[in-house]
Amino acid sequence: FDTKTPKSVTSDPTSFASDSVRQRWPVILTGAVDDVYRAISKTDDPEKQAEGKKIVEQLGALKYEVQHDRKLSPIEVDDGYPEEIAAYNKEIQDLGNPSWLDVPWLFSECYMYRRISTFFTLTKHWKNYDIFARQKIDTFRTSRNAVLELASRYKELIEQIQADKNSTHDEEAEKLLFTEFFEICLWGNATDLSLLTNLTYEDIQKLQGSAARKAAEKNILINDLPASYEILKKARADGQEERRVDFVLDNAGFELYVDLVLAGFLLASGLATQIVLRPKSMPWFVSDVLPGDFSALLNAISQPKTFFETQSEDEKLQGKIPEPLSEKEAEDLSFVFQDWATRHAEGQLVMRPNRYWTAGGSFWRLPHEAPELHDDLKGAELVIFKGDLNYRKLTGDAHWDPTTPFQQALGPMGKGSGVNVLSLRTCKADVVVGLPAGKDEELRKTEGGGGDSGARRWAWHGKWAVVCLSQGE
Ligand code: F6P
Ligand code: MG
Repeated sequence: FDTKTPKSVTSDPTSFASDSVRQRWPVILTGAVDDVYRAISKTDDPEKQAEGKKIVEQLGALKYEVQHDRKLSPIEVDDGYPEEIAAYNKEIQDLGNPSWLDVPWLFSECYMYRRISTFFTLTKHWKNYDIFARQKIDTFRTSRNAVLELASRYKELIEQIQADKNSTHDEEAEKLLFTEFFEICLWGNATDLSLLTNLTYEDIQKLQGSAARKAAEKNILINDLPASYEILKKARADGQEERRVDFVLDNAGFELYVDLVLAGFLLASGLATQIVLRPKSMPWFVSDVLPGDFSALLNAISQPKTFFETQSEDEKLQGKIPEPLSEKEAEDLSFVFQDWATRHAEGQLVMRPNRYWTAGGSFWRLPHEAPELHDDLKGAELVIFKGDLNYRKLTGDAHWDPTTPFQQALGPMGKGSGVNVLSLRTCKADVVVGLPAGKDEELRKTEGGGGDSGARRWAWHGKWAVVCLSQGE
């Protein structure tokens, strides 16, 4: 069920895949070791300490295997999901027992996180430990300015929409808001933590404000938002009682916050009656959302003063004391919290995990490998796939000609799939489709775009984005 187009592999020296396996994964694994060390030092329980040390060793061994181009070893444990592990192992076999520096990028990266998770799930004391949790919530704290700016905007708009409920809908205004909220949600993806190895916290903050967003509009290379709006507007006009929008989530922290901002807008405007959030089931690509991140976020904004006035790890290092929140800022955030908590309690905003999101293959296989999930997705008016990894999974992470139509690159999840796929992605990998002829060449010629090196560097660091729709009928 895979595409025949060759996949992105770690052995290609011009690819971001090569850069990832050599530079970025060792850094991520070192960070994971540091995190577990820190947690070990905070416990007095000798059994927990011993287990923690074993995890550290396993993480170290994995890092060694990656850096020394060892073979990907089959996962020989049972952590309660034997079929899932068997599928990973079968893939290793089907690929001919590849080694780290010459293997399809997408699969090997998923395998790395799947393997890490077994180090934890097989222990007694670390079963539900998330090595990336601290980082995720810390970046949310350092996103404070953008969080507050959005909270104020959200409160204003939701109150306005609610006051306006019975008067006639001003469609032009609604469409503008739709675009604004989707763009906020799109750029929220520029800030994932697996890329933090080359972005500073200051860079991230710069990416988040409204002025930055306006300026970035010209960096959206393909924009299918108008057609997406039509789909939701039509369902509402047709009087369909249940109108669901699904979010296949990407990153926690600020990105999850903007996902919820968009979700709240869709519900308040009646463009959707229910939002289904789809998280991962194990720590994944550093910053991806786990069910616990949703509660952590709600918790944080339920006590905004306590949360934002506590020093982040970064601030501790720099000796910075956070400024107190103003009364208005605290009120805005409390409004946001109340709004989301109510919608959650009323079932308008639900979280629906599925283990398939952490399988090792691309979504070309989804209809065949996860038919129930596929059927469930068909029930939504629109399924929003957030972020870069989801885009790579949709397109099979393959070397498509960049002018290939998006729908074609989705294979079985494209035409005839019954799923309306909307991908919101800031580009952080090599694969890209749907571009007008000549655009890729033009971007390669820009500063840092890759030039004649053969590398599509312009697409690596989240500066450019695509918003692509495939209607599944
Ligand atoms: O490009 C770096 C990377 O870690 C890719 O491996 C992955 O596709 C992506 O970032 C994760 O980004 P996102 O959080 O947007 O899916
Ligand atoms: Mg991610």
